[in-house]
Amino acid sequence: MGKDKLKRFAEMEHFDNVFQPTMEEVKEGFSMKGKWHTDFFKNENPIVLELGCGRGEYTVGMAQKYPNKNFIGIDIKGSRIWRGAKTGIEENMSNVAFVRSKIDFIEYLFAENEVSEIWLTFSDPQPKRPRKRLTSKLFVDRYRKIMVENGIINIKTDSDLLFESTLEQIEEHHYKKILSSWDVYGEMINTCDEELKDLMDIKTYYEQKWLEDGKKIKFAKFSIG
Ligand SMILES: C[S@@+](CC[C@H](N)C(=O)[O-])C[C@H]1O[C@@H](n2cnc3c(N)ncnc32)[C@H](O)[C@@H]1O
Repeated sequence: MGKDKLKRFAEMEHFDNVFQPTMEEVKEGFSMKGKWHTDFFKNENPIVLELGCGRGEYTVGMAQKYPNKNFIGIDIKGSRIWRGAKTGIEENMSNVAFVRSKIDFIEYLFAENEVSEIWLTFSDPQPKRPRKRLTSKLFVDRYRKIMVENGIINIKTDSDLLFESTLEQIEEHHYKKILSSWDVYGEMINTCDEELKDLMDIKTYYEQKWLEDGKKIKFAKFSIG
């Protein structure tokens, strides 16, 4: 492992806004499950997750725009999370946290009704493993266990495959589609409301790469009931 990565890992051990539970801790009862509002954020504001957050651009960017909401980024890669967590600390943001964990264990990280909204940002399309896609029924059923009634899921992606499959899942499982577009910056941006337009200003590391390559960015927002 490179020197920089090791330094980041060591530094992150002391970050108050990063949780890195072991597999045993997660399975035996993660200390924050059901206690995010009382023990970490110390308010009752809605909790929004970014899953597969990488460097946490949406987690931090939305937290800056919405001080009355709480944001948690989750990713398995510690060296990526470090960037967002460091910004959260440098900017004294009390509404941001990160968890280093597999998303597959999400129901062990949060309790029933603890989460209001989820953002999936440039998730891996998993061409050969549809069940592993973050909008598959397997994952949505996990989200349902921790979300409030009518919880909202947002997905922003470059992948035609993942987007198509997400739209199929929405249809097949009767989720309530609120909005969808195959071309965020060509079509959606001129017709959507100001709030969403503002949110689309946040660009993740992968999004910037795909935009430079001339790829079209897709977006959907739906409620899972
Ligand atoms: C293509 S990257 C996108 C990162 C970031 N959202 C962006 O747009 O720049 C996908 C991210 O999801 C994370 N990831 C993929 N599957 C995961 C899983 N099952 N659990 C946790 N993280 C996962 C990867 O580590 C990676 O950081």
